Amino acid sequence: MLPADAAGPLSDVPPERRPAHIAMIMDGNGRWAQRRGLPRVEGHQRGAAVVREITELCSDLGIGQLTLYCLSSENWKRPADEISFLMLLLKQYIIDEREPIMRNNLRVRMLGRRAAIPDHVLEELDKTIEMSRGNTGMWLNLAINYGGRGEIVDAVRAIAGRVRDGALQPEDITEDTVSGHLYTAGLADPDLLVRTAGEMRVSNFLLWQISYAEIWVTDRCWPEFDESALHEAIRAYAARDRRFGGLPDLA
Ligand code: IPE
Ligand code: IPE
Ligand code: MG
Repeated sequence: MLPADAAGPLSDVPPERRPAHIAMIMDGNGRWAQRRGLPRVEGHQRGAAVVREITELCSDLGIGQLTLYCLSSENWKRPADEISFLMLLLKQYIIDEREPIMRNNLRVRMLGRRAAIPDHVLEELDKTIEMSRGNTGMWLNLAINYGGRGEIVDAVRAIAGRVRDGALQPEDITEDTVSGHLYTAGLADPDLLVRTAGEMRVSNFLLWQISYAEIWVTDRCWPEFDESALHEAIRAYAARDRRFGGLPDLA
């Protein structure tokens, strides 16, 4: 993890009060565009530019992991032309980001089911992941064709296979066993879950991993999310009292 610059932006929030892992539901691209009389895809285009900006800001703040909800397993219900635009945008983003990813020392990981994602997109994604493998800075986890329930189903299948093969006894299955079979295996759970565009729901995102995440929702749409909104979210997080089921620290 990069050391946070104590004299830099957000100097009022000491590094130990900042979330180590931020997950973001980047919602509201379509509404942002429609309110301006633009086609929905314009919102996605603007949203991709915001991804770039927010990723760099998080990395500069010393955040250890940023997990972005790029496409849910339910988003395939959308019209074919919107989906194909999103695929092309994703591919272009993955190619264009190689330079800033390497410059910022980011490690890229994909969370989601690979099947259904076109091969030409997967090829570019794999190249970017491979290129970033030796980096040591912030994890950039891209949730693409991701669904929390589907992820748990995939983990249960893998664990059941190990039990069937005699490699694991049912009574030896622990929470760590389940965590270790999710797409996020080896990564710490999110501390802060940010959702833009105001909806008070999690939309099948990281169901297992957000069990004790602090949730922060803004009415701003994703294309309007900026440095001041990011700082507001982190300040709100820093002011929270995380009890994990225990009692407040009265010391
Ligand atoms: C989020 O914006 C991006 C994706 C889900 C891919 P939306 O496209 O959901 O925008 P709204 O919610 O319709 O405004
Ligand atoms: C969540 O947004 C998925 C992403 C941001 C990729 P949606 O727009 O799909 O969520 P719902 O349909 O409003 O719950
Ligand atoms: Mg939406």
